[in-house]
Amino acid sequence: MDVYTIAVIPGDGIGREVVPAAVEVLKVLAEVHGGFHFKFQEFPWSCDYYAEHGEMMPADGLDILKGFDAIFLGAVGNPGLVPDHISLWGLLLKIRREFEQVINVRPAKALKGVASPLTDPQGFDLVVVRENSEGEYSEIGGRLHRGDDEMAIQAAVFTRKGTERVMRYAFELARTRRKHVTSATKSNGIYHTMPFWDEVFKDVQRDYRDVRVDSYHIDALAAQFVARPYVFDVVVASNLFGDILTDISGAVMGSIGIAPAANINVNGRYPSMFEPVHGSAPDIAGRGIANPIGQIWTGALMLEHFGHRDAAQELLQVMEDVTAEGIKTPDIGGHSGTRDVSDEICRRLRRR
Ligand code: NAI
Ligand code: MG
Repeated sequence: MDVYTIAVIPGDGIGREVVPAAVEVLKVLAEVHGGFHFKFQEFPWSCDYYAEHGEMMPADGLDILKGFDAIFLGAVGNPGLVPDHISLWGLLLKIRREFEQVINVRPAKALKGVASPLTDPQGFDLVVVRENSEGEYSEIGGRLHRGDDEMAIQAAVFTRKGTERVMRYAFELARTRRKHVTSATKSNGIYHTMPFWDEVFKDVQRDYRDVRVDSYHIDALAAQFVARPYVFDVVVASNLFGDILTDISGAVMGSIGIAPAANINVNGRYPSMFEPVHGSAPDIAGRGIANPIGQIWTGALMLEHFGHRDAAQELLQVMEDVTAEGIKTPDIGGHSGTRDVSDEICRRLRRR
């Protein structure tokens, strides 16, 4: 029996509604599946915690988290109570950075029962693998002069280590899927870093001859995500390109409330963190109508990360059966509450 210790941080707003719902589903899944077991421990770190203690998490918070196999997080942010830059940097971004979660994985697919804004989504099913630690989001650069002579320089940093790392992750993932990797480049316009990106992609693909590859310039690729998302399997992208692509892939799914994400630590020194794409949604918090699908799907990503692909697949199947049947929250056109959806998923898992 594999036992996984999970640090649960519901956070703020709807995080406190969707996280308990998803934890319940994961418990039932472990129970009916056998072979693995979770030990959940909850931490109240949030904006309310800040209001009381003057910090988003205790000084030894990271030391505490370090001992867990994974972190399962809801959402952080309550702009009425704590400015966003304090809440995000004090918890989420701190964990991502300090725990070297260098890769961001965001799947997107057309779910049955969820209307995509595309007229012809053709059951697309793709994953964007985004570099999460370097690239365009560097602190290197500066500003000079004022007035007419004013200037700003921002350097993009692409290391061979970081570039290879994200590409290998994408190829390994593709081997578990439809064996197709698309590279997001812009070597026709960006003079140094993107030709380098292309070269590394060529080097890495030699080790994965069984995987089909192609390469698109980011502008064309962004258009294809809208026009024909179904031609993609795994897409590997730099930090900025991946950021933009995943907003598009989230949008074509139909609601931000269903988009899952994983922040992966690949050197094994620290836990990875699993959190949905959406935020704390203060506008609907406390009403019991938040969509739990993003959080539940995020739980499936965590299971995949632990190597329980079959259990993850089973969960996704049941989740989609439930949306297909119209048991869904208002953001995707339904009339059900958060718990109606998660309870129905639990019921069906038990029946299988
Ligand atoms: P948001 O994602 O919280 O909400 C955007 C819109 O989507 C809202 O209308 C909301 O009601 C809706 N929505 C989001 N998740 C939903 C769900 N599961 N079910 C149904 N509807 C859902 O983004 P917003 O409003 O920009 O940010 C609110 C707070 O969340 C801010 O404090 C922000 O900093 C924080 N935030 C935190 C993130 C994180 O913890 N990873 C990510 C994004 C925002
Ligand atoms: Mg973004």
